[in-house]
Amino acid sequence: LDLSLENKVADMSLADFGHKEMQLSEREMPGLMETIAKYGESKPLKGLKVMGSLHMTIQTAMLIKTLHALGADIRWASCNIFSTQDHAAAAIVDSGMAKVFAWKGETLEEYWWCTEQALTWPDGSGPDLIVDDGGDATMLIHKGVEAEKDDSIVKRAYDNKEFQIVMDRIALSLQENPGKWTRIAKNIKGVSEETTTGVHRLYQMEKENKLLFPAINVNDSVTKSKFDNLYGCRESLADGIKRATDIMMAGKSVVILGYGDVGKGCAQSMRGFGARVAVTEVDPICALQAAMEGYDVVTLDDVVETADIFVTATGNFNVITGAHMEKMKDEAIVCNIGHFDNEIDMAYLEGGNGCTVMNIKPQVDKWTLNSGRSIIVLAEGRLVNLGCATGHPSFVMSNSFTNQALAQIELASNDSLENKVYTLPKHLDEEVARLHLERLGAKLTKLTEAQAEYLGVDQNGPFKADHYRY
Ligand code: NAI
Repeated sequence: LDLSLENKVADMSLADFGHKEMQLSEREMPGLMETIAKYGESKPLKGLKVMGSLHMTIQTAMLIKTLHALGADIRWASCNIFSTQDHAAAAIVDSGMAKVFAWKGETLEEYWWCTEQALTWPDGSGPDLIVDDGGDATMLIHKGVEAEKDDSIVKRAYDNKEFQIVMDRIALSLQENPGKWTRIAKNIKGVSEETTTGVHRLYQMEKENKLLFPAINVNDSVTKSKFDNLYGCRESLADGIKRATDIMMAGKSVVILGYGDVGKGCAQSMRGFGARVAVTEVDPICALQAAMEGYDVVTLDDVVETADIFVTATGNFNVITGAHMEKMKDEAIVCNIGHFDNEIDMAYLEGGNGCTVMNIKPQVDKWTLNSGRSIIVLAEGRLVNLGCATGHPSFVMSNSFTNQALAQIELASNDSLENKVYTLPKHLDEEVARLHLERLGAKLTKLTEAQAEYLGVDQNGPFKADHYRY
């Protein structure tokens, strides 16, 4: 690490463009602008150090602007090697609102360096609060603490290339700064986690009693997962595939693997373009939902030889295997919109199994397989909407990030939280939605006093019980 290094981004000459796009997004991010207006004066994050590991896009720049207005001292890294928008990173550095270590097209070694660099303030201390997306910052700290208790875990060799890189990084930090991770973990008031996969990791740690600080699950705010995952992907999946390949969707046979919130948005998107959409699922409830929406519910084996486009959206691993790819038709497009790149067995392609690659342009590769046929793999199997396009639009991210800002305020101000995973209360969820209605010209009906009494709710909400599923 270089603690004297203030920032590391690709190109500061892009700052002006970044500022202009940030300004344009303001109207589309009413939740964040309202949060700034409401808390800008009281500054609930004053004196607190916030580290973010979340795609360094224009929308994230607006989240940083919000956290800065709330008083935080911020350091940021991206949570994916391809997702940084270099003009957004440059604009934030230029504004001085945060220190940024992120650029589009990092190597994995650089990625983990950026994460640690963002976690380490110049005096060697760590953050008070973390904004995480996918849980990599949280994982690095937990593994670091584990290694400080038993360094045999960093001396072992691992098959997983990326995990080996993480462990090598921790090994280095044990030499540079002994006890660092334990000190950092002790100081942390909490983490707010953005996505399904990161939340899944947190609940696993909670169950095993391994969580070292409180966590807020932002993903399961209704105004996050039922909007960002669904309507966000409904727009950004097609954006990613089209920018990468210019393919015509209409008439194509598309398989969406996984029909959760993300899969639902993806399937609807592809159908909207006139594609013929099939869905794979393991969960009978989601499979039935897909069938009732009119999609073919199939197994991958049924369609692997005939489909034109494959999209993984499961949050699971090894969903498309090497054997599947060998059966695909020539120039089938294969991509992933789930958080990690292991949904597609990229290791099969990259691992000396006789497959050869030709790069078409950044984040678009044509792999020739043993079958003699080729497939087009987007963003090296990493999330296609952020790797090949610019992620979700501002409006939907304003919903997600208003939840993030509220979660940070809660972690900062509530000293009674335990090392558990919490969700935000429903009245805040409803408030986030309320903040976004006006921009769309939507008018809310008000319950009469008698109606509220009849339903047994307060006239001003919350309107639903916690078990309501939307
Ligand atoms: P979810 O849990 O709602 O949906 C995943 C679905 O995949 C589940 O219904 C599950 O039954 C199914 N599934 C699991 N294994 C499967 C298999 N082997 N074959 C077929 N189906 C399988 O999760 P959600 O919210 O839809 O998120 C999915 C992934 O996308 C996560 O990794 C999440 O972090 C990520 N995500 C990505 C975003 C992006 O912008 N790229 C935005 C939001 C979430």
